[in-house]
Amino acid sequence: MPQLVIEGQKRLMGSCKVQGSKNSALPILAASVLCGDVSIIHNCPDLSDVRTAVNILRSLGCSVEFAGGTLLCDSSDMACSSIPDSLMRKMRGSIIFLGALLARTGSANLCLPGGCEIGPRPIDLHLKALEALGAQINDDHGVFRCTAPFGLHGAKIALSFPSVGATENVMICACLAEGTTVLTNAAREPEICDLADYLNGCGAQISGAGDGTIVIEGVSRLHGTQHSVIPDRIAAATLLSSCAAAGGKVTLTDVIPSHLGAVLSIFEECGCFVDIRGGTITLDAPNRIYAPKIVRTMPYPGFPTDAQAPVMGMAAKSRGTTLFIENIFENRYLHVGALLRMGANIKVEGRVSVLQGVEMLHGADVCALDLRGAAALVTAALGAEGRTTLRGLKYLDRGYEDIEASLQSLGADVKRI
Ligand code: UD1
Repeated sequence: MPQLVIEGQKRLMGSCKVQGSKNSALPILAASVLCGDVSIIHNCPDLSDVRTAVNILRSLGCSVEFAGGTLLCDSSDMACSSIPDSLMRKMRGSIIFLGALLARTGSANLCLPGGCEIGPRPIDLHLKALEALGAQINDDHGVFRCTAPFGLHGAKIALSFPSVGATENVMICACLAEGTTVLTNAAREPEICDLADYLNGCGAQISGAGDGTIVIEGVSRLHGTQHSVIPDRIAAATLLSSCAAAGGKVTLTDVIPSHLGAVLSIFEECGCFVDIRGGTITLDAPNRIYAPKIVRTMPYPGFPTDAQAPVMGMAAKSRGTTLFIENIFENRYLHVGALLRMGANIKVEGRVSVLQGVEMLHGADVCALDLRGAAALVTAALGAEGRTTLRGLKYLDRGYEDIEASLQSLGADVKRI
């Protein structure tokens, strides 16, 4: 079983390119079935979740080539509207194929998606919104048979929570529906804007992405396009947390600093110096940071839930106390047990955890239990004294493209064995 072996306490120096965004690439790949044509997606990260999306596309009859960060998907011969359970259960993001299949073929057969066990992850908002667009959904104990017997039509949809996935499903499905869809309380994440940019490049008419209200004017058909995926703000936050944990000075290139507003202010609070120039961020971190006072996860533009874990790993040996409040997912402290093994002082009570920074962490044999939790163990290990052996790399590989190469290029002592 592969492991990462990390010798901590090496200051990080240098510059590093940020990978393309996983959470943008996945819905864009699902949406690519809509155009019945060739889509060329640049800056697509090579991740196990992206490979799962590619396998889903192939299982649907699409022809896909993926090399050197560019993915070509030809959906012209797509013949099928059923996704094998084994692929659906590999990741949560597979639920976005529901809206895409309905829009392209008028039917979809799939089971509940899988993914990291970070709390109950219902899909009620997705189903309700798609029903408002004309879908009829038969839920047979978690196996969904969906049709649109009277076609898809525009609707006024108000989400009770700005779910990222439900917003994406509505945008994808509504662009080929007849008439106008107005989606309120929509998610405002940058990945929503990236999906809208891709779909508009295919000929869709979507406005307001990034605001709370998105308007989609249905069109009768889409065409292929070329699109470049935005940089991954969570991978960027993880690299910055790594630098803040280990100390040093790191410049990230190919990043959109405005996507990281709430994250960068935490680093400044920790005593790091942040310098933004165009598409780069330089972080200059002291040997031991101050603890940020409160990290409260919120929908965008608030602090992202996906960055909570790597920031906690970084804060574990800070000076002071941090209150973490996880408002998005119920069970997102799976990494705390392993951080305690490394000498951290953290108490968890439901959605709240209190971290008392310790003077030094020590390396340990630890195992990741979810994707961002794995990143927490990497950031903690980089700041810890001695050797950490990290197992559970299948989680890390779902979201980080060759993270050891990125960290090695910054001078970290990290090996995959
Ligand atoms: C996406 C991201 C994930 C990120 C999350 C929040 C992808 C592939 N994944 O996940 O990395 O952590 O946004 O930024 O883009 N909810 C319901 N009913 C629903 C849908 C969601 O109750 O039908 C709840 C969820 O349980 C959760 C909250 O809404 O508590 C947020 O979920 P959502 O925004 O939908 O996250 P995902 O799209 O699954």
